Amino acid sequence: MTDVPHPINLFEYEQLARANLSKMAFDYYTSGAWDEITLRDNRVAFEQIKLRPRMLVDVSHINLSTSVLGKPLQLPLLIAPMAFQCLAHPEGELATAMAAALSGVGMVLSTMSTKSLEEVAEVGSKFPTSLQWFQLYIHKDKGLTRSLVERANAAGYQALCLTVDAPVLGQRERDRRNEFALPQNLQLANLSTTPGLEIYHEKGESGLFTYFSQQLNPAVTWEDLAWLQSLSPLPLVIKGILRGDDAVRAVESGAKAIVVSNHGGRQLDGAIASLNALAEIVTAVDGRVEVLLDGGIRRGTDIFKALAIGAKAVLIGRPILWGLAVGGQTGVSHVISLLRDELNVAMALSGCPQLQDIDATFLQLQH
Ligand code: FNR
Repeated sequence: MTDVPHPINLFEYEQLARANLSKMAFDYYTSGAWDEITLRDNRVAFEQIKLRPRMLVDVSHINLSTSVLGKPLQLPLLIAPMAFQCLAHPEGELATAMAAALSGVGMVLSTMSTKSLEEVAEVGSKFPTSLQWFQLYIHKDKGLTRSLVERANAAGYQALCLTVDAPVLGQRERDRRNEFALPQNLQLANLSTTPGLEIYHEKGESGLFTYFSQQLNPAVTWEDLAWLQSLSPLPLVIKGILRGDDAVRAVESGAKAIVVSNHGGRQLDGAIASLNALAEIVTAVDGRVEVLLDGGIRRGTDIFKALAIGAKAVLIGRPILWGLAVGGQTGVSHVISLLRDELNVAMALSGCPQLQDIDATFLQLQH
């Protein structure tokens, strides 16, 4: 940890991280697409839902443990897939993986990681109960996509998390203004063996935007999911769903879990807050698969609200990068422990000793 005051919540972590990061890195991590309306709405949606706590319940023992796709978790939390974590700290995704495993939360590794999927899996393999999923972006090069899936399976990832909300990259104007590129010493660690796959500097544009337009396949449809599932026995998780009918389609296409997400407001600006899509999707799915949510989780009460609407667990994005930038693995662990403690207090004050006690009766949705 640096000699800064000890942060006591996730918002303070963001302030501290800003001081530790280059402008280009901070802007890349923090920004949303266009006017950042969806980015803001993800938070507003949580703030607008009020709680109806139940009194005189024995809350001397609070149990936060759960499971996702059969794997035990010490709290209903996974780390969302996020690219380029070595921009925050030299250990990047390895530090995140270690903190996740030690804290008993899941981790989803991005295709666009700056440590290879094999190195990250190696960290997880030291912990028999660690939950690690590999997030997939489908490249135009089918052979490359196939090899990513085969490598993820061979390395021991327990699910393939297909991100479906980025057929093209959302326009993040700060990245465009900064002409975002990876520094010379960092590379796309999962793709570096294929010549030409790098995020290079481009005049007037984000290098990542250009990478997406050149390399990723915008023609992917539901029909391709059978092919994807034929490549490995890994269960498929679909990330980036915002409508009930798409959720049903995902279930019918074989998905074992759905992540309700708008990519942290980084893709279609003006898309609804992910929390506001959750109830429709939970109803549509009707218990057939587990439903997870990300976007705007910053407090233990946010996790409580998502669970009350029907999420099995939540994913958290940016605050993990703030923890990484401030204190590497220790910082990430501390961010997770802050959320754990807040969820604990929120459950005690609501009269819910068990996660199963949390339901929609604890919410006042209107007014
Ligand atoms: C992301 N996200 C993301 N999603 C994904 O499927 N693959 C990826 O490579 C990335 N990369 C990425 C980088 C950065 C810097 C951020 C902030 C986000 C989206 C991420 O998984 C998640 O959906 C959101 O970050 C959740 O919102 P919060 O918690 O950041 O508000």
